[in-house]
Amino acid sequence: MESQQAHRKDEHLSLATASYQRAHAHHYFDQVRLIHDALPETAVAAVDPTVQLADGLQLEWPFYLEAMTGGSKQATKVNRALAKLAHKHHLAMATGSLSVALKEAAAQPSFTVVREANPDGIVIANLGADASLDKARAAVDLLAADALELHLNAAQELVMPEGDRQFYWLDNITRLVDGLDVPVIVKEVGFGMSRRTIERLQKVGVQLINVSGRGGTNFAMIENRRNHQLDMADLADWGQTTPESLLEARDSQATIIASGGVTCPLDVVKAGVLGARAVGVAGYFLNILVRDGASALDQVLTDWQAQLPRLLTLVGAQHFIDLSRVDYVLTGPLYEYAQQRGLV
Ligand code: FNR
Repeated sequence: MESQQAHRKDEHLSLATASYQRAHAHHYFDQVRLIHDALPETAVAAVDPTVQLADGLQLEWPFYLEAMTGGSKQATKVNRALAKLAHKHHLAMATGSLSVALKEAAAQPSFTVVREANPDGIVIANLGADASLDKARAAVDLLAADALELHLNAAQELVMPEGDRQFYWLDNITRLVDGLDVPVIVKEVGFGMSRRTIERLQKVGVQLINVSGRGGTNFAMIENRRNHQLDMADLADWGQTTPESLLEARDSQATIIASGGVTCPLDVVKAGVLGARAVGVAGYFLNILVRDGASALDQVLTDWQAQLPRLLTLVGAQHFIDLSRVDYVLTGPLYEYAQQRGLV
């Protein structure tokens, strides 16, 4: 019999897949239009897709498999399939939160499978921002992880019937950033970040911030489907979209990562133009894997890796970081948002 926490992970997997089609209808990256330059003056062969996020954290591709799962039999299968593809395609991969693995030894193989299937690749561990330093070290050790993500998920917890009700995270984040030997990435889980959040994280020493915005997987709605006591559907549109969050991060000195609603290589490029140094993709890839199988996701990853260098060439970029020089216009609600927030 699997634990309640493992059962919750299975519900997340099935609800994230079931809800993805509807969420997919919001394609907020459409409100970012890149300006075509008819004179690229570069070549596809000149593209170098590697990105350097921190000392010792270099990704071979600017997009990666973002944190999703672990903790149950079903999660083991998903993680094994994702890790094999990460290995084959030289993509970094983050696991789901390891908190269940630190409580229940039986849950550990569902995570360690990620390292077994991808011995030399970049593997990123994941925990909540309230994790103790000992737990954070144990999570990193369990996977021989190259980095640790700490997730900020207040909106999710508050909708969960069994969720946390207090969120004092900043001091703990400082302790973890100071105490760990691997780079620490602080991430949202799909509600985005504001300039103020980003500034406060940076002030306590966080160098790597994943704004993970609205537009794809929606954990308020996933938890609302699980919560039969209290309907919090009001939060369906809560938070900043990923493009909004990237605009909020524009002046930050931190290294910014994007995720949330990324469904095509052009979204990856647009995120780079708005300042992201790397881009995580969760729900879209999970949906393909669960619905159509590993060979379908394999083909999608092959296609993305063929398209991305061509798109970089089209906008005259040889490295992902060069995208920050590409001109763009914002349209519709994104432009209104940027104006009111003083971001244009
Ligand atoms: C997630 N996400 C997530 N994030 C995290 O930091 N720890 C976690 O354990 C999980 N668990 C999880 C399970 C499932 C099934 C999904 C789909 C997602 C959030 C994820 O990493 C990402 O921030 C959001 O899903 C937004 O990206 P997408 O899904 O819109 O690409």
